[in-house]
This record gives sequence, structure tokens and C-alpha cells, in this order.
Amino acid sequence: MSERKVALVTGAAGGIGQAVVLRLLSDGFTVAAMDIDEKGLAAVMQRAGSHKSALSLWPCDQTDEKQTRDAVAKIEARLGPVEGLVNTIGWVGTTRFADEDSNYWRKVIAINLESVLYVTHAVLKGMVERKAGKMVHFASDAGRVGTSGEVVYSATKGGIIAFAKSLAREHARHNINVNCVSPGPTDTPLLQQEIKDDPELIKRMVRLIPFRRVAQPEDQASVVSFLLSKDADYITGQTISCSGGLVMI
Ligand SMILES: NC(=O)c1ccc[n+]([C@@H]2O[C@H](COP(=O)([O-])OP(=O)(O)OC[C@H]3O[C@@H](n4cnc5c(N)ncnc54)[C@H](O)[C@@H]3O)[C@@H](O)[C@H]2O)c1
Repeated sequence: MSERKVALVTGAAGGIGQAVVLRLLSDGFTVAAMDIDEKGLAAVMQRAGSHKSALSLWPCDQTDEKQTRDAVAKIEARLGPVEGLVNTIGWVGTTRFADEDSNYWRKVIAINLESVLYVTHAVLKGMVERKAGKMVHFASDAGRVGTSGEVVYSATKGGIIAFAKSLAREHARHNINVNCVSPGPTDTPLLQQEIKDDPELIKRMVRLIPFRRVAQPEDQASVVSFLLSKDADYITGQTISCSGGLVMI
């Protein structure tokens, strides 16, 4: 087993997930990259360059509790204990609540909320035993101030923020830090999907952002890097908005 700390990144094939994987590799972590998208996982391995040997890929449907728990057990057996957990998994369509059906709601809740519970529960026991660990969950400013077209997604992200705060309170005594990153609009496939029917939307968004640009995935990865570092030892239960000033609360 390696001397490097192990980080598990979920949603690792996605726009933000890939940036987080690459940043943590250059920070010196051994990284386990989990996602349902095997092609996207292969792409992040390609991008890892000289860090490839510190990266392993873990294809998994994280809405399946057993698959997720089995994957975490195999990761810890092969790489050692997970000391940093970063949940970037997420999904949303852009529709009006009044037009949706409960199959859509269940999918949004399963991907954005339940999947996070499964993987977090699977790594938590070991962190408690070792009295060490840091977690970062990706929320969204939609979960703090709401967004039309993303009503149930906003509910799951508000849920993630409340989940992280409560978990932070339960486990501070075990020296476990639990925080959230709350991205504003970030240039990833998820954002491209959201704006595909309304390309002007991005221009309207940018006009509202004090820094006059959407975030790049690397902006989000920088916050994760800090929250997993020793410099963040005394920070827990917080939600950090990385939105160019779009949301200030
Ligand atoms: N991009 C933005 O503008 C933005 C804004 C606010 C919040 N966020 C949040 O940031 C996080 C990352 O977003 P992103 O833009 O990188 O999205 P993305 O769509 O690029 O990546 C999400 C990843 O989650 C994976 N995933 C989906 N369902 C899965 C499942 N069942 N099992 C395993 N993996 C699954 C996808 O394959 C994908 O690789 C998400 O939680 C998202 O809600 C993004």
C-alpha cells in the first residue's frame, strides 16, 4: 500500500469530477475515481499523464447500494483507508415541476441524494475508527437560493447541505471534517445540457455574475484541494459558494 493519502472521488468522469481528480493527484493523493460512465473514466486516466500510477478507476452505478458498498470495500482493500471523500456525483434535467412525473423525481433523488448516503456511510465507519477523515460534498447554490427549472434538484442539494452540517456535528468528536462546495454555473457537460435549448441563457447568467464569467471546473477543484488540506483542519459544517460572487450568503 502507498504512503500517499487515499481520496475517493465520485462523479469522477464529469466536468468537475475530472478536475478534482487531476488536482488531488497533483496534491499528492492516491485517487480512486468512481463513476457510472466508463468512457469518461478512461478519459480522466488519459489526462492523468505522469500521475497515472496513482489513479485507479472504479465503474459503479452509485444509485445501487450494494454495488457502491462493494466498490468501497475493494478500494480500501487495494489502496488503504479512504481519508478524503469527494462527492461530485450529480444529475438534473431542466423542466418545470408542474410538468414532471414521480419517475423523474425518483431519479433526481437517487442520483443526487441517495447515492451520496450510500458511499458516505460506507467510508464513515473506517474514518470513525481511525479518528481521521475529511469529506466534501457538492451541493449547488440552487439548494440555497432556489432555481426555476430545477425544483426537485434544488431540494436534493438543500438536503445535501443539511446532511453535511448534521454529519459534521455528529462526527467532529471523531476528528472528521464535513463540508460542502456550492458551485455557481460551471462550464461542464451538465451546464451544456441545461443551456442546450436556450443558448442565450449563458449570456444572461454571465451578466449577473460579478466576475463576469462562469466558473471553470478547476475553480471548484481548488476549493476541494483546500478543504481536504491540513489548512482546513478547523473548518467543518460549512458551505462554500464558488460562484464568482453570484450568490453571497
Ligand atoms: N456545472 C454546474 O454548473 C454545477 C452547478 C452547481 C452544482 N453542480 C454540481 O456539481 C457536481 C458536478 O457537476 P458537473 O457539472 O461536473 O456534472 P457532470 O454531469 O459533468 O458530472 C456528473 C457525473 O456524475 C456521474 N453520475 C451520474 N449518475 C451516476 C450514477 N448513477 N452512478 C455513478 N455516477 C453517476 C455522471 O456519469 C457524471 O460523470 C454535481 O453534484 C452538480 O450537481 C454543478
